[in-house]
Amino acid sequence: MKKFNSNNHEVNILRGLDGVVAAETDISFVDGVHADLYYKGYNIHDIADHTTSYVEVVYLLLNGELPTRKQLKEFRVKVVAEMRIPTQVIKMMEIIPPSSHPMDVLRTTVSALSQFDSDSGDNSQKASRRKGIRLIAQIPALVASLYRIRRKENILSPDPHLNMAKNILYMFHGNVPEETHSRAMDLLLLLHADHGLNASTFSARVTASTQADIHAAVSSALGTLKGPLHGGANERVMKMLMEINNVEEVDEYINSMLAQGQRIMGFGHRVYKNEDPRAKHLRKVSEELCGLSGNRKLYQISHKIENIVLKKKGIYPNVDFYSATVQHALGIPKEFYTAIFASSRISGWVAHILDQYSNNRLIRPTSKYTGEYNKKFVPIARRKTPDTTPVQR
Ligand code: ACO
Repeated sequence: MKKFNSNNHEVNILRGLDGVVAAETDISFVDGVHADLYYKGYNIHDIADHTTSYVEVVYLLLNGELPTRKQLKEFRVKVVAEMRIPTQVIKMMEIIPPSSHPMDVLRTTVSALSQFDSDSGDNSQKASRRKGIRLIAQIPALVASLYRIRRKENILSPDPHLNMAKNILYMFHGNVPEETHSRAMDLLLLLHADHGLNASTFSARVTASTQADIHAAVSSALGTLKGPLHGGANERVMKMLMEINNVEEVDEYINSMLAQGQRIMGFGHRVYKNEDPRAKHLRKVSEELCGLSGNRKLYQISHKIENIVLKKKGIYPNVDFYSATVQHALGIPKEFYTAIFASSRISGWVAHILDQYSNNRLIRPTSKYTGEYNKKFVPIARRKTPDTTPVQR
């Protein structure tokens, strides 16, 4: 659609910035045509099948290379050591109303963490990297601590011998998870770690481009991730699954939603027009965990939804769809699903924010003005109440 902007320059308006290339990066690539995803050049299927843990992916995103065993061990110890949350921030979490959404608490407490960070006020590249690693460690700890506070249970410190996935489950449930569960959590984390210029990463980069500090950029990203069209979709997926009692009800439920023009959460994607490569891995784990937990019905309902939406709309599930059932099987309540997503995507945000700082130019697009010009200005004393305004008594 060709339009003219206020400077009378010819402009193309791309609603939702669809297809706009707004940054150059080697961190990750979402190949929508071939339904592939690359982290630092590595195909997501290789990452999912061969990495030993999520922290290996964090190392890759921040350093550009896969770590040796020694480098990985040192990095894991460093990250787990940074999971400690200042007491003042824990106290804040305790006084926030229990009805608040975990993503709102996370946004508030991440913002608060900036005041207690030992590098607060230092926005050099080195200090930003240290703060970034701290946030990668602290966000999952905040999420698990909030879960324990809500259940009136003691907050648990991370176990330095456990990796990040095991620590998250340990800090949630109070016991070291079995291997199937820790591997599922690892997979969730490493599949969500980065995804090109998705909405929350873009918002982090916009904030970083003003030279604001890394906590400000991550707070922006958290606010953006919460929305149901982005990271908030996983929670809505479980809400939908809970409303369907059995496989026989799926047809009617989905058909009625589609007939009303409603969106099916966990389906569709701006870039992938075929299957999201991450969904393939999560579908498999979802089937396995639902079977093991004796809740096979949940997987069957999900799978039927997938078939109907594909048949009726030609739309595939995205990462959020099967993430819901995987998290459910791991004992995470649905209100926390997006916060678990954030516990992983923080690694991509940090990599992108550091990337933005290192080669910065203010991100400041323009808009097409549709208003009037040079309207007659009437001073306030001479303005008349329009007849349509209700008379105040
Ligand atoms: N259910 C039903 N119809 C859909 C869905 C869906 N989930 N997604 C897209 N469509 C339809 C739209 O109604 C539209 O149809 P129309 O052309 O007949 O009007 C068409 O597909 C194109 O949709 P757009 O909104 O233009 O696609 P866009 O690229 O802007 O949106 C989005 C992508 C927001 C992800 C969309 O697919 C959606 O709303 N999905 C549901 C929410 C969701 O799962 N979000 C998570 C995305 S993954 C992530 O962020 C981690």
